[in-house]
This record gives sequence, C-alpha cells and structure tokens, in this order.
Amino acid sequence: MRKTIVAGNWKMNASKESVKTLIEGILSGMNGVSSEVIVCAPFPYLSQVETLISNTSLMLGAQNLNVNTKGAFTGEVSPDMIKDFGAQHVIVGHSERRSLYGESITIVAEKTKAAIDAGLIPLLCVGESLEERDSGNTEVVVAEQLNAVINLLGIEAFEGIIIAYEPVWAIGTGLTASPEQAQAVHLFIRGLLADSSESIAQKTPILYGGSMNAGNAAELISCSDIDGGLIGGAALKAEDFLQICKAG
Ligand code: PGA
Repeated sequence: MRKTIVAGNWKMNASKESVKTLIEGILSGMNGVSSEVIVCAPFPYLSQVETLISNTSLMLGAQNLNVNTKGAFTGEVSPDMIKDFGAQHVIVGHSERRSLYGESITIVAEKTKAAIDAGLIPLLCVGESLEERDSGNTEVVVAEQLNAVINLLGIEAFEGIIIAYEPVWAIGTGLTASPEQAQAVHLFIRGLLADSSESIAQKTPILYGGSMNAGNAAELISCSDIDGGLIGGAALKAEDFLQICKAG
C-alpha cells in the first residue's frame, strides 16, 4: 500500500511574515492528517521553515538544485546546502524550469542524480504541453522524460524518487486534468516503470499536479494510481492546503 503524499510548491511566493503565518496555520491543523506532508520553500526561507517545523511531522523540500557539489557557480545552490537546512526533498524538472530556464531532459536527469547522490529525494516532474496532448503525444513525451532518468540511473533509483505528473496546460491555469485523464497517464507511467521492475513500479509514489485544490483533490487522489498531489497556488493558504492534505 502506497502512502499518500501531499507536497506544496510555493514557487517564488514568500516573505518572512507569510511563511510564519502559513507554517503556523498548517501546523495548527495537522491533527487527523495521515498523508506525508512536504513544503517546498524558496532557498532563502529554508532556514526559517527548518526552525518552524522542527519536531513536527512536516517535511521540507527545495525547488531546484545545481548538479555540482561546490565551486565557482555564482548564484547557484548545491544539494549539500539544501540538506544542510534540513530538507529531505527537492523538486526536479518542474515544467517552469524546463520551459523558462531551458532545462533539457539530460539536465533534469543529471539533477535527479545529484539529488540522490546527496541523499535527497527528488520530486521528479514530468508532463506534456497542450500542443503535445492535442497531437496525441502525451505518452511519448512523458516516456522520453522518464526514460532519460531510467537510462542514466537505472530503475533501482526509483526506490528513492517521487514522480509528479504535471500536465503543463493544467499548471496555474485553473484547468485540472479530469480524474480519468490523470489516472490514464499515471497508469501509463506505472506501466513504463513496470517494464523494468514490477515491484518498483508498485512502490513508486506518483503525485498529480496542476490546479489541484480543496475541491478536486479527493476525487483525484481516490484514483488507484494517484498517490497524492504537488500543489502550487492552493499550497499558499493553510486552510486550502490542509483540506488537500486531509483528502488523502
Ligand atoms: P498549481 O501548480 O497547483 O498552481 O497549478 C502546480 C505546480 O506547478 O507544481
């Protein structure tokens, strides 16, 4: 039985004050939450969140990392720095990084490796654009994104990877994949992993992301291959986020 995981991706939205209010709000409503809950904060706030969530069940993640361990990479953040602030997770290959910052499937695979090498759990995002879906290429695109990681790291690496299926057309748009659409792709992803290892496929958590909110989370998470959510906009309000956490 896979555990439900709900991860908040705050993106570039935070201030010291809003972080304090949000984390305190989440912590005050965690009674009755059986999902694993992760918050992925912008780098400058990792330290603040680390302190606020110490001795609680909340877990911390970052939103990006550099593939190198240290050195002359001005402005970059290494996997070990992220670990140093108590994070166990890091988002890798979010569609905003792929499209706005030119992260290729090769770079995403290398970042996945760098995260695992440092002992972090990557939240590996995959997903198709609207154009790719409309032209019937969803499975081709998702397979290409996943195969780049499988080819570099081997299927065993997925023992320590969380996958997030995030259709690009549903991210931040208010358009959500229907439970049927999402489940179909999740099943495809699990089948792709099963081609290499049935047992790893059964164990790997596959989260849905893309305008998941308090109103649609329960129906999505009830699908047999949807193991939770990666939440953007709705992760910024404690009340909404908690409702999603309770949907699992
Ligand atoms: P959204 O973002 O929930 O605002 O659509 C999800 C994500 O980008 O991870």
